[in-house]
Amino acid sequence: MFKLTGKTAVITGGGSGIGRAISLVFAQQGAQVHILELHPETAQETVSQIAANGGTAQSHACDVSQQEQVKAVFQAIGKVDILVNNAGIAHVGNLENTSAEDLDRIYQVNVKGAYNCLQAAVASMKAQQSGVILNMASIAAHVGLTDRFAYSMSKGAMYAMTLSVAKDYLPFNIRCNSVSPARVHTPFVDGFIAKNYPGQEEEMFQKLSKTQPIGRMARPEEVAALVLFLCSDEAGFITGCDYPLDGGFIKLNS
Ligand SMILES: NC(=O)c1ccc[n+]([C@@H]2O[C@H](COP(=O)([O-])OP(=O)(O)OC[C@H]3O[C@@H](n4cnc5c(N)ncnc54)[C@H](O)[C@@H]3O)[C@@H](O)[C@H]2O)c1
Repeated sequence: MFKLTGKTAVITGGGSGIGRAISLVFAQQGAQVHILELHPETAQETVSQIAANGGTAQSHACDVSQQEQVKAVFQAIGKVDILVNNAGIAHVGNLENTSAEDLDRIYQVNVKGAYNCLQAAVASMKAQQSGVILNMASIAAHVGLTDRFAYSMSKGAMYAMTLSVAKDYLPFNIRCNSVSPARVHTPFVDGFIAKNYPGQEEEMFQKLSKTQPIGRMARPEEVAALVLFLCSDEAGFITGCDYPLDGGFIKLNS
């Protein structure tokens, strides 16, 4: 089950955290993996790990917010069966202390970056009358979180784009779903804690772990397992859905 043999998968932000875990499991299941990454040296590390495990992968230096770069990379790749829109950046702040520049920066990467890849991938998927798209949203798309104004905006957009794309491309046999994780222990979280709570790293790590009723953060591999299922043929009846992966955060936090 969950084999991706013969499929070409594009994964953005595959040089770290969740994107790396998805790249590794997709390659293990037989996909030919293409990583689009702002930091190509980190993507190269993922590619080397995949090669060491006997898989096939290629890294592409690409800033997903730059449409021309994205178009050129997709053109070089050719046929695309699976797109995982995973690259994303964080921001802490409320409405008043989020600057217009910060809002634009989050929009450019988290929203426009996904749009750029969706547009490029759908062109190829339409031609072959099949494809699967997975957008990485967040619990921030579904509940009010303190000081996540810009980030929540971007993840809410990811959720809404998922519904729109799922609806419009039904006739082309293209499925589109999203996953909404609570906190996952990745460099994204470590960097966020180091930047925003210097000197209180351990205390904050414990505090953030306990905000999930299950008592810990998720592991990147746990997110990758759900993404693999949703992108596999076994999930062929699932489209236009969002899957929380949240240790009970949304439903059990009262
Ligand atoms: N870690 C969490 O707690 C958590 C929770 C919910 C959702 N998410 C989402 O999951 C996704 C991955 O998060 P992560 O924790 O693995 O983060 P991470 O920082 O470990 O990895 C993100 C990767 O994206 C790349 N990237 C950033 N901007 C890019 C750009 N413009 N073009 C190409 N690549 C770019 C980075 O270089 C990095 O390799 C993000 O969209 C994030 O919002 C994370």
